[in-house]
Amino acid sequence: MSELAPSLRSKLFGIASRTRSYSDHPAIIQWKEYGPLSAEELFAFPERRRILELGSGWGEFAIAWCRTFSDSYVAMEIKPDRIHATLKKIDRFELSNLRILPVNFEWFLEELLPAQSFDGIIVNFPDPWPKKRHWKHRLIQDAFPKIAHSLTRPGAFLHIATDHGPYSRRILQRFRKSPDLWSSNMNAPGYSLVRPEGIPETYFERVQSRLGYRPRFMQWRRIDGN
Ligand SMILES: C[S@@+](CC[C@H](N)C(=O)[O-])C[C@H]1O[C@@H](n2cnc3c(N)ncnc32)[C@H](O)[C@@H]1O
Repeated sequence: MSELAPSLRSKLFGIASRTRSYSDHPAIIQWKEYGPLSAEELFAFPERRRILELGSGWGEFAIAWCRTFSDSYVAMEIKPDRIHATLKKIDRFELSNLRILPVNFEWFLEELLPAQSFDGIIVNFPDPWPKKRHWKHRLIQDAFPKIAHSLTRPGAFLHIATDHGPYSRRILQRFRKSPDLWSSNMNAPGYSLVRPEGIPETYFERVQSRLGYRPRFMQWRRIDGN
């Protein structure tokens, strides 16, 4: 049998060992079957305010948030190196309120997360997929306002930031079509170029701002009673 090229071998086994090295970390949410996770599986402190972040990257935002607030925070992220980096920071700061759900939110958002569970949803700099043929991969599609509404509890907030102008306008259009679900609490034209108070800077925001891109911040409040 032919040997694997050393570079390929180290790449394959590198990925496997990185994945193994975090799968038994206490901050990793374990899921064994399809179907919604229970509040006890998802949250370190189910009785506290519950926050969901989609695409948490290297984890700076989640870490800063969880060092400031005592909320129960769930970060969804797919890339092993970014998850690994976030776990290291969780250990360094001895954070017990942050958990990571290491799955693809494109496939598992509604399957794994129980309805009416979160008091806030945060999406920082989702991949913009600028080419039209790739728009289908964007996280914020027509159904997103409804999905986010169904995942949240009364009074919840939704925070989305992007440095991609066309994507921000599409996002605003989508939310304007759901005025019965989410009300904008930002000034016209619907996004702010100033980061709202209490919102930490993200890694991606820092990098993109240095390159001259302008972040846009959008926030909504859940309309309850439906
Ligand atoms: C542009 S980065 C922004 C990261 C971070 N929020 C920040 O602002 O620094 C987008 C992040 O979303 C993650 N991501 C993209 N698609 C995903 C998916 N389908 N499921 C889970 N994570 C995803 C990527 O791995 C990446 O870390």
